[in-house]
Amino acid sequence: PDRLTFIRQLPKAELHVHIEGTLEPDLIFRLAQRNGVTLPYADVDALRAAYQFTNLQSFLDLYYAGAAVLLTEQDFYDMTMAYLTRIAQDGVVHTEIMFDPQTHTERGVPIADVFAGIARALREGKAKWGITSCLIMSFLRHLSEQAAFDTLDEALPLRADYADVWLGIGLDSGEQGNPPEKFERVYARCRELGFYLVAHAGEEGPADYVSGALDKLNVIRIDHGVRSEEDPALVARLAARRIPLTVCPLSNLKLKVVNDMREHNLKRLLDQGLCVTINSDDPAYFGGYLLDNYVAVAQALDLDDEDLVKLARNSMDARFPVFVSQS
Ligand code: ADE
Ligand code: ZN
Repeated sequence: PDRLTFIRQLPKAELHVHIEGTLEPDLIFRLAQRNGVTLPYADVDALRAAYQFTNLQSFLDLYYAGAAVLLTEQDFYDMTMAYLTRIAQDGVVHTEIMFDPQTHTERGVPIADVFAGIARALREGKAKWGITSCLIMSFLRHLSEQAAFDTLDEALPLRADYADVWLGIGLDSGEQGNPPEKFERVYARCRELGFYLVAHAGEEGPADYVSGALDKLNVIRIDHGVRSEEDPALVARLAARRIPLTVCPLSNLKLKVVNDMREHNLKRLLDQGLCVTINSDDPAYFGGYLLDNYVAVAQALDLDDEDLVKLARNSMDARFPVFVSQS
């Protein structure tokens, strides 16, 4: 079979995707119209033309603006269903989805509606396509730790209703200047509560933030982590403990974490024995879903079938619960 067919038929899990980052421009416009929200763009093409990013923050500004059209339970359902419909074609058998409740509650959207809409789609997606899934509730790191505690308190009464889907806690948004230590207490609380812990680290921020996420937050998986390479001792530790990295190649390219896909360190990290996985991050903004990410790196880094099988297998191994060795 050709490359695309070969990759498509490999059982793959997506472990790093922000559901708000799957909101396609045409759905943004449809929801804006349905909800009477005025957008500062004339049409879908004008919005899409604005997707030119210079760094993480330039993307986040647009991403939060796009998310402002999400108001009702049905909106969250429609967005999630569109994503599942899309990945069902890519041979994705499992997905662990991040969502940012603070982006919505600060606009007055009840957190219960956010949970309800996303979970309804996930349950339906499992019945329809057999795609298994779970949710990672993520705190915005540019906000305070107290705001994270408040969000956790708002969400906990819903936990029993979503025990089948809400399994994880994550940390995202602007990394630089918002180190993992800032969230040490709220992560300790989430750990006591029995959630699986992950955090973005080493995307734009330094390798120290990856060590910090491991040591201070006790995460079992690192989102991105590509800057770990700057600390050889850290790389050795990630390899020895088989801590998965959820790498997002097209995201790294669009946000200028790398200037050329041929310079991406994914293959070097894989060859050093790390549990590297491929993910889409915010596919509506970065020009590709999971399969597109596999194809882009396979071409740019000249990956062979063995590498691709290993990457797909890593993604299945790195699903919750993640078994990492101690120390
Ligand atoms: N939120 C959505 N995508 C993100 C990314 N790549 N890094 C940090 N926060 C995000
Ligand atoms: Zn991300």
